[in-house]
Amino acid sequence: PPLSSMFNVYDFEYVAQNILDEAAWAYYSSAADDEITLRENHFAYHKVFFRPRILVDVTNIELETEMLGIKTSAPFYISATALAKLGHPEGEVGIAKGAGRGDIIQMISTLASCSLDETVAAAKEGQSQWFQLYVNSDREVAYNMIKHCEELGIKGIFVTVDAPSLGNREKDRRMKFTEDTDVDLSGDGKTEVNRSNGAAAALSSFIDTAVTWKDIQEFKRRTNLPIVIKGVQRTEDVILAAEHGVDGVVLSNHGGRQLDGAPPALQVLAECMPVLRQRGLDKKLEVFVDGGIRRGTDIMKALCLGAKGVGLGRPFLYANSAYGPDGVEKAIDILKNELIMNMRLLGVTKISDLSPEFVDTRPLFGL
Ligand code: FNR
Repeated sequence: PPLSSMFNVYDFEYVAQNILDEAAWAYYSSAADDEITLRENHFAYHKVFFRPRILVDVTNIELETEMLGIKTSAPFYISATALAKLGHPEGEVGIAKGAGRGDIIQMISTLASCSLDETVAAAKEGQSQWFQLYVNSDREVAYNMIKHCEELGIKGIFVTVDAPSLGNREKDRRMKFTEDTDVDLSGDGKTEVNRSNGAAAALSSFIDTAVTWKDIQEFKRRTNLPIVIKGVQRTEDVILAAEHGVDGVVLSNHGGRQLDGAPPALQVLAECMPVLRQRGLDKKLEVFVDGGIRRGTDIMKALCLGAKGVGLGRPFLYANSAYGPDGVEKAIDILKNELIMNMRLLGVTKISDLSPEFVDTRPLFGL
């Protein structure tokens, strides 16, 4: 179908499901076990209601904001997803181009199918990119990756901490992963990938079970780039992150692909922000969320509850698979238009207006 028939980001998912081969669809769409967290990630947004203000002049709406000190045209970014080439030959390079045209930040995965250098080279002048780090059991590899990011002008390192071992994604496991995706995972080209057990399992050999706060401290010591921990799932760890001097956290359960039964990020956000504010820690680090965000209104709800920005994973992967960079650009456009329209309807004109008074979270807590 023509790009003009894409009305919302679910439309890309529908097209992607129809055009992707079975193995790619299984890898992209799957989540852990019974996919409870996958579903609840999204449904949590249904349990927060707005408290709109009326008779406000909402002629001019501004979406611009900052994340980690970087100016960006909207309060959402493209989250890291592995193996974009499974869906489209341009892979992460295509996502970079789309992100550039839409002026939003792209987070590039350690397990990207294009090299980091080519994905960075695809960015236009002034475009910001982040790097998602899986900490290699050989720490020198991780340190070298961070150094390389500095050289390439990457603006932040997101260390993924919710994957000390790989979630049980059965849809994916049922597919024998045989694609030649040309992934250079080690950074030195030497590492063999066992692809006999699904795409996800093929990549899991790069995940270390022994990453701790000490490593985070070491990363902070070695770089001036912002260090953000991705995959934080409870308030106590957000507080620990602040105490370790990290620049931000992403409340995330990896799109439901790791621990099934992990809480939806929106719920964790609603729980932790009042505690952070009470302790003055909300000024010390930025809080991001991802998982299940599909609408401008979802983005607004997370921002009202205190998120500095939100990430979307699958929607952009599907948009890129279906239409390449044009699809990514269109998906960004759709979300921006949804934000503009719905901020008007809520009675706010800029991102910093979005605050807790605009949402009712009682249903989220079963009240
Ligand atoms: C991911 N995600 C992910 N996260 C990460 O830190 N490193 C990675 O390599 C990947 N790879 C990956 C592949 C695929 C196919 C998916 C769907 C997800 C998780 C991702 O960054 C993000 O947390 C979730 O995708 C957010 O949920 P939604 O937006 O997909 O619902």
